[in-house]
Amino acid sequence: MANSRKKPPEAKKDAPAQVHKKITFQKPGNILYPVPAALVSCCDKDGRPNLITIAWTGTVCSDPPMVSISVRRSRYSHRLIKETGDFVINLTTEDLAAVTDTCGVRSGKDVDKFKEYGLTPFDSRTVKAPGVLESPVNIECRVVQTLELGSHDMFLAEVTCVQADERYMDQNGKLHLEKAGLIAYSHGAYFALGRQLGTFGYSVRKKKR
Ligand SMILES: Cc1cc2nc3c(=O)[nH]c(=O)nc-3n(C[C@H](O)[C@H](O)[C@H](O)COP(=O)(O)O)c2cc1C
Repeated sequence: MANSRKKPPEAKKDAPAQVHKKITFQKPGNILYPVPAALVSCCDKDGRPNLITIAWTGTVCSDPPMVSISVRRSRYSHRLIKETGDFVINLTTEDLAAVTDTCGVRSGKDVDKFKEYGLTPFDSRTVKAPGVLESPVNIECRVVQTLELGSHDMFLAEVTCVQADERYMDQNGKLHLEKAGLIAYSHGAYFALGRQLGTFGYSVRKKKR
């Protein structure tokens, strides 16, 4: 998310709307992109850890802080999360892109993903599932409700603790996630984030003279 000297676009009241011809999908489907490609860690009741790549995840409430992940019942991780009632969402970066993809195509039924793919589990503060040390942000989550939606079960969870790499914190305790090299997933492909266009409320903020 490198800054660029190019001016950010501004909202213009009188800008002519650009009109493009639309096509209607034969079948409605999931096209809400981009989303994160999160590395979700979990473990069995004996503490044996596993990882699953999850794109169907999101923030659902600010206070209390809550998130959701949707997991197919066939996934090995589904059983583990059911067993312990917790998991950790680990944000992914350009450096973690390949391992994120691998964890999304290999099953913990067959392979110890932490060991085989060179990731380091570390103790979480509030949940049994470990975090991924190589990830810049680890979000500890405790399941409060499971919704059986169809292909996927949605684990609705409360965020019980967040840990972040100290190197992205400034002296005022502000987290500079823009420096972490986060990635996004869009329609089957992974992307590095592009240039910053503005910050929250920038379009109406008074310019400093
Ligand atoms: C980019 C990406 C996103 C994925 N998102 C999800 C998801 O949201 N839910 C899900 O159940 N599986 C998802 N998968 C598939 C699982 O990560 C995959 O089946 C994995 O091997 C399951 O691991 P496990 O059997 O060890 O639990 C995704 C895979 C990739 C590559």
